[in-house]
Order: sequence, then structure tokens, then C-alpha cells
Amino acid sequence: MELSIIYDKLRFEEKELYDKATNRGITTHLMDAKPISFSTDINQNNTINGDIFLQRCLSHYRGLYITYCLEFLKHRVINNYDVNEICGNKLKTSLILAKSEIPSPKTYFTFSAESFKELTNKLGFPLVLKPLVGSWGRGVFPIRNEEMVNIIMEMREENDSAFSRIYYVQEMINRPPRDIRCIVAGDQIITAVYRYSAINEWRTNVARGGHTGLAPITKDLEDIVIKASNTVGGGILGVDVMEDEDKGFVVHEINSNVEFRGASQVSQVDIANSMIEYVLTVFKK
Ligand SMILES: Nc1ncnc2c1ncn2[C@@H]1O[C@H](COP(=O)(O)OP(=O)(O)O)[C@@H](O)[C@H]1O
Ligand SMILES: [Mg+2]
Repeated sequence: MELSIIYDKLRFEEKELYDKATNRGITTHLMDAKPISFSTDINQNNTINGDIFLQRCLSHYRGLYITYCLEFLKHRVINNYDVNEICGNKLKTSLILAKSEIPSPKTYFTFSAESFKELTNKLGFPLVLKPLVGSWGRGVFPIRNEEMVNIIMEMREENDSAFSRIYYVQEMINRPPRDIRCIVAGDQIITAVYRYSAINEWRTNVARGGHTGLAPITKDLEDIVIKASNTVGGGILGVDVMEDEDKGFVVHEINSNVEFRGASQVSQVDIANSMIEYVLTVFKK
């Protein structure tokens, strides 16, 4: 088996995956996405080597469309295009989770500043606003009053992008100052860690200074996480869960390009090695 890891920025994760695959004797390439090109001249698109590809681009759209081209050429990519497309878009993820009756925060979508304001008047506060596409907690804001609504409306109106006219508004979950990042491969949770938010920060992302601690993988957690992961199509995923005081576990996000630097500092499991094991089982299928 020849494995190609496609990246655009070499992070801890891609280096780990490369090392663990190489240690197992797998011929592995680290493939920079930036020089890759495809064309409609289908027969000329044979310069890409690998029997199986791990899509690890930081840029969502770059990874998504390279995956599309690779799959078009009948290559196998983990995670596949459909999974990337769903997980990379918070609106799609929320709708699909709800359809499968997986507990998740109540979420609303509006398509103009006026209807956003109307919605917040109707729902009351606190609420959470998120961009449709994004990671590391960027643009995820708690909205605690009308003044904040007006500020956001004004900022988004000034920023005339297609995405700024779509409002993803969510109930604020009454949770402890942490969430649970579950790293999944296929039907198994490789590891689960709590992510505690930094001082003066409400978001728990490690990219926002959050720190990690080991979390127990209970039966309840496993059930909801594996169901959520399968609902979006499965693969190597980061399923993020909050602990709602009343509702229990709720899934708020599924990452198709999961980071595990924080988790690997506390987990007893070799995360990258477990991911490579999963890639091997997919390859053998
Ligand atoms: N509805 C919510 N209630 C409470 N906290 C939330 C809610 N949504 C997100 N958060 C906090 O904000 C963080 C970032 O939100 P998330 O949806 O995971 O976006 P990103 O893709 O940028 O990580 C979460 O990890 C969590 O700590
Ligand atoms: Mg997140």
C-alpha cells in the first residue's frame, strides 16, 4: 500500500501520521497540496501517486476540491468528499444531526440582517452566532444582549460577502467550562479528552488557549459519538460534545480534519498510529 498525506501546512498531526505510517513499513508520501493541479485532459492526470490518500489540508475548500478531483479519478480518499462537505459546513452538519435525532443544540438559520434581528427578539438571550464555515473558534460569538446583535449586524453589513448574509444562530448550552473532543476512526473512539477554556475565554478550542485533560469514554458517550460519526458518513473524525445541564450530551460539531496535538499530550493511546491502523483496514476492504 502506498499512502499519500495531502497537506498545505505541515502541523504536528501530519508529521505524526507520516512517522507512524513509515514506522509500520508503509510507503508514505507527504504531498504538498499547493503545487497539485488537475485538468479536463483526464489522461494527463496520472502524476498523482498513492493507493490511498489522507486529506489533511488546513484550507477547507482546497482540501474539498482536491478530494473531488481525486475521487473523480477513482482514488480513495479519507475522509471522502461527502463527509468533508457536510462536516465543513455547520448548517449542513446541524440539519443532518437533527434529522438523525442525535441530540445537538437547537439551531436557527436566517438569510438577512432583518430576519436575524427578528429571530433574536423572539428567542431572547443568550445565543451563539457562528460562521457557516470555520474552525479554531474563529467568529464563534456569544450574544448576550441586543447591543451585540446591532454590532454584529453592522459589521456583517459592511462586509459584503455571501457568507455574511447567512446567520447561523444557536441556543447557548448551559455547560461546565469545558467540552469533550472525541477522536473517532470508523466505529471506535480512539480517545476522548476534555478541553477546558482558557481564562477570560468562553470557547474551549485548544487554538484559543484551551487545555486538555483525559475524559472517560462512557457507554452513553460512545453511543452518541459513533452514531453522529456514522450519520455524517464516517471516517477519521473529531466529534465535539458538550455536557448540557438538563439534556446531557449534545454534539455541536464534527471535524473532518481533526487536530490532536492537545489530545496526544494527555491520551494514553497512540492516536496517529490508531488512525493509520484504520487506514489499513479501509485499504484491505
Ligand atoms: N451552543 C453553544 N453553547 C455553548 N458553548 C458553545 C456553543 N457552541 C460553541 N460553543 C463553544 O465554542 C467553541 C467553538 O464552537 P464550534 O462550533 O466548535 O466552532 P469551531 O468549528 O470554530 O471550533 C466550542 O468548542 C464551545 O466551547
Ligand atoms: Mg469546534
